[in-house]
Amino acid sequence: MTHQERVFSGVQPTGNLHLGNYLGAITKFVALQESHECLYCVVDLHAITVWQDPKELAHNIREVTAAFIASGIDPKKHIIFNQSQVSGHAELAWIFNCVARMGWLNRMTQFKEKAGKHKENASVGLFTYPNLMAADILLYHATHVPVGEDQKQHLELSRDIAQKFNVDFKDAIIASGYEDGLFFPQPEPLIQGPATRVMSLRNGQNKMSKSDPSDMSRITMTDDADTIAKKIRKAKTDPDALPSEEDGLQNRPEAANLVGIYAALKGTSKADVLKEFGGAQFSTFKPALAELAVEKVSPIGNEMRRLMDAPDELDAILRDGAERAQKIAAPIIAKTKQILGFIG
Ligand code: TYM
Repeated sequence: MTHQERVFSGVQPTGNLHLGNYLGAITKFVALQESHECLYCVVDLHAITVWQDPKELAHNIREVTAAFIASGIDPKKHIIFNQSQVSGHAELAWIFNCVARMGWLNRMTQFKEKAGKHKENASVGLFTYPNLMAADILLYHATHVPVGEDQKQHLELSRDIAQKFNVDFKDAIIASGYEDGLFFPQPEPLIQGPATRVMSLRNGQNKMSKSDPSDMSRITMTDDADTIAKKIRKAKTDPDALPSEEDGLQNRPEAANLVGIYAALKGTSKADVLKEFGGAQFSTFKPALAELAVEKVSPIGNEMRRLMDAPDELDAILRDGAERAQKIAAPIIAKTKQILGFIG
């Protein structure tokens, strides 16, 4: 049985939604609506792997929902929903806790980064975080997963989990009607374009992130036009002019980052941006970038604020999304339990 193509991705409601999330992930979510059936999830169960203030969490769940809609995702044609409202995510995550191996999770670089020196004090949930991601995707038999570069390793783990489950339970899977033994598909990561890893505006070696203590390191989706322009004006650069070809961006992380951001906002390639700006100083390029960023980002921020003024409507969209997601998940979780030998 070959699996019908289906897109799934998630964003954590941990505040400070930024340009990296937008260019690396959300713009891709929008584009895929044309060709695929899509589910986009606000992953609150992932958020609580690190302590969240309950009042802020509720606000941040609505903010990510608003960002999805303001960016152009249609919640009627596709599904926007909240992870904790569909119980199958937690159920399948537990099953995958029993499929994934300690050794696999021990290799996850994001856990090492996030737990830092205080590994003993990290939550168990932070360690098993990638198993929940695998559950998110496989609960819907999703085949394609648009994400930024930083999620690549987690996606590989999802593929390993799908494969191990299929192997471990091969006979039961075949007996349940999947003659090829492929109950879970191998989800394919979609990591494409010039901004799969947007870097901090203060240091081209660090990823732009929600948790960077410096607000100047990131453009958030709700920054107003003046703030966006100021952050770009103050972004760290080097003293040289822009090169005419991409090779010239090597060892120039800040320049490469700004050119990548420009290309992604404009919907073109770095090479094309350099054709236009090769030889230009940052005193010319930065204002052009600021203008483009304001033009693209600030209408989304304005629309997000408008949507956030009607939280009941956002909540209703999430409830409706969860109901529809649940309909897709129900037969898959039921079949999973049957394959495992649980009595239904
Ligand atoms: P999260 O919330 O950290 O980020 C959401 C999406 O934004 C991408 N991203 C970036 N892309 C480019 N440059 C950056 N600086 C940058 N920072 C973040 C992320 O790669 C991601 O695509 N674990 C996921 C959420 C998740 C998920 C899933 C994703 C949970 N379940 C199932 C896919 C499928 C995360 O923490 O994303």
